[in-house]
Amino acid sequence: MIEIKDLKKSFGNKEVLRGVNLNIEEGKTNVIIGASGCGKSVLLKHIVGLLKPDEGHIYIDGEDITAMNEKQIYAIRKKFGFLFQSAALFDSMTVGENVGIALRENTLTPAPEINNIVSQKLRMVDLPGTEILMPSELSGGMRKRVGLARALATDPQYILYDEPTTGLDPITSETIDELMDSVARSKDPKVTSIIVTHDIFTVYEIGDRVAMMFEGKVHFNGTPDELRATSDPIVRQFLERTDEKKAKH
Ligand SMILES: Nc1ncnc2c1ncn2[C@@H]1O[C@H](COP(=O)(O)OP(=O)(O)O)[C@@H](O)[C@H]1O
Ligand SMILES: [Mg+2]
Repeated sequence: MIEIKDLKKSFGNKEVLRGVNLNIEEGKTNVIIGASGCGKSVLLKHIVGLLKPDEGHIYIDGEDITAMNEKQIYAIRKKFGFLFQSAALFDSMTVGENVGIALRENTLTPAPEINNIVSQKLRMVDLPGTEILMPSELSGGMRKRVGLARALATDPQYILYDEPTTGLDPITSETIDELMDSVARSKDPKVTSIIVTHDIFTVYEIGDRVAMMFEGKVHFNGTPDELRATSDPIVRQFLERTDEKKAKH
């Protein structure tokens, strides 16, 4: 379980996180929404120790990552797989080499076993037998799926997604939603997912919990049904604006 307590972060005089409190529930799909620029990616980066807060704490299975040194953070990061918005594949490596990179670099897994794991993860994202392809031969949606296979390679306990469907067409987005859902349900004990998204469809389709950030804090926290039903004016305004954007497409 991940507990975020009173997390504060400013860049210069810009207060981005103003006291974020949030529990990420174990084995669930936790979705984080909020306007562009409200601090969602900044929050994710704190969870994996890529940023240090000005104040506050993040407990990962009881251990405070904000108090750790680089070496300790590196160790705890092994619990995570991430599919970040900018997480491009390495263009000079094959798909298979991309997916296996963490196993090759961070574990002592023998090569034949790495090959087995890589092919299993590629099957999981519906790209069986694509090991020898180069990233340049893939569509945007396929590259996202390879990125997902790479994030899954080490069988992480937590998987973090930052805007996994942004920039993809609706059908490809739905495929990614379905994959995130099957990943979430594929393990026992179940993997814990944290998905930052603009895509309200993702919330309703696969979310167990949803938190909405507003003005540097968690403004709403509940189930997707509770989100749908709330009369909170700030949430309503956000959802209506999202609907308008959808309608324009
Ligand atoms: N490393 C950084 N240095 C300065 N400002 C940053 C940095 N990272 C993010 N910000 C600012 O913090 C705010 C929140 O960014 P971000 O978390 O990326 O928003 P989003 O909710 O869209 O993911 C933005 O105003 C952004 O410009
Ligand atoms: Mg972002």
